[in-house]
Amino acid sequence: MSWNWKRAAAGFAAASVLMAGMAACSSSRTDDGATASESSTAAEGGGSGGELIGIAMPTRSLERWNKDGSNLEALLKEKGYSTNLQYADNKVDQQISQIQNMINEGANILVIASIDGTALAPILETAAGQGIKVIAYDRLINGTDNVDYYATFDNYQVGKFQGEYIETALDLKNQAGPFNIEPFAGSPDDNNAKFFFAGAWDVLLPYVEKGVLKVPSGKSPASDDEWQSIGIPGWTSEAAQNEMTTRLNSFYAGGTKLDAVLSPNDSLALGIAQALEGAGYTPGPDYPVLTGQDGDQANVLNIIAGKQSMTVWKDTRELAKRVATMVDEIASGATVEVNDEKTYDNGNKIVPTFLIPPVVVTKDNIQDTLIASGFYTAADLGL
Ligand code: BGC
Repeated sequence: MSWNWKRAAAGFAAASVLMAGMAACSSSRTDDGATASESSTAAEGGGSGGELIGIAMPTRSLERWNKDGSNLEALLKEKGYSTNLQYADNKVDQQISQIQNMINEGANILVIASIDGTALAPILETAAGQGIKVIAYDRLINGTDNVDYYATFDNYQVGKFQGEYIETALDLKNQAGPFNIEPFAGSPDDNNAKFFFAGAWDVLLPYVEKGVLKVPSGKSPASDDEWQSIGIPGWTSEAAQNEMTTRLNSFYAGGTKLDAVLSPNDSLALGIAQALEGAGYTPGPDYPVLTGQDGDQANVLNIIAGKQSMTVWKDTRELAKRVATMVDEIASGATVEVNDEKTYDNGNKIVPTFLIPPVVVTKDNIQDTLIASGFYTAADLGL
């Protein structure tokens, strides 16, 4: 029995149960506790046989995941698939039960942006038992054979761009320093955070070792592998703000100058900028270099206001497009196009991956990147 046929049969049976229940549309809890209808039936006559695609996103609390979810859902609906999009409020158990529900509903393919990349092996075992294919979205899922493909941005390159930005801004190749830097890393349970840190630290650590860069707080991992020691759980702005405030109060109170902060993403950069503001830093030549990632609107506004130096923009529309293509390829039995078959080892296997290049955005190229591509309008950014 072919995969398509078996899954279509299961999907049909589940859909009948669902329709008998109430309507061909399910309700679910959203992050903010509101009840929302997040499931849909297939548009008629689309490019597919109406297979059900479960989309599990981590949280609504970050702008990017909202965009990721809605872009992907819209593309899949256009192509004629049914979708069930769920957000899990950054709670691992909630994400697992959402995936279980998608399996029960007869999902043919699961697209998962995991919260904890190591926590999904048992539920994916269940999915595999039913022939469901799994695409890891943006974040790798570890410790299981049952993840078929991975689509993401080049995570190491994101970090490399951040490290190189600091290297150029402080002219580290030519200056003796010492410059003071405070490094941060992402959530310890997010596999991506390791790559972001490694990309940046491979550029910056040699300068720390030479004494050109100093880390007054002492929170300076001796190697890439120690990144979790400075990780901010859940990627929250609040935790980053608290951590930065503590470091400023404890190590910079006597007038020590802070030259740069390595922030792996925009949610952390927002909190760090708040802490800087709280400590009296104002935009201008003495404001520290501050990195970021995602191109969230609040951060682009901060870049324009001089409160953040750069962001590494990941055009989530491109990721959604790539994943929709993967879904089509899987559903039609075609070869799934990937461009990296060596980097993403999840502990059990190397997961075939499609990497999308990220883009550095500074004050100088906002127009040519974010606005020209239609990611934001000039009005969104007050320009
Ligand atoms: C994503 C980043 C995001 C972070 C926090 C990472 O896995 O790749 O784009 O900023 O999670 O949600």
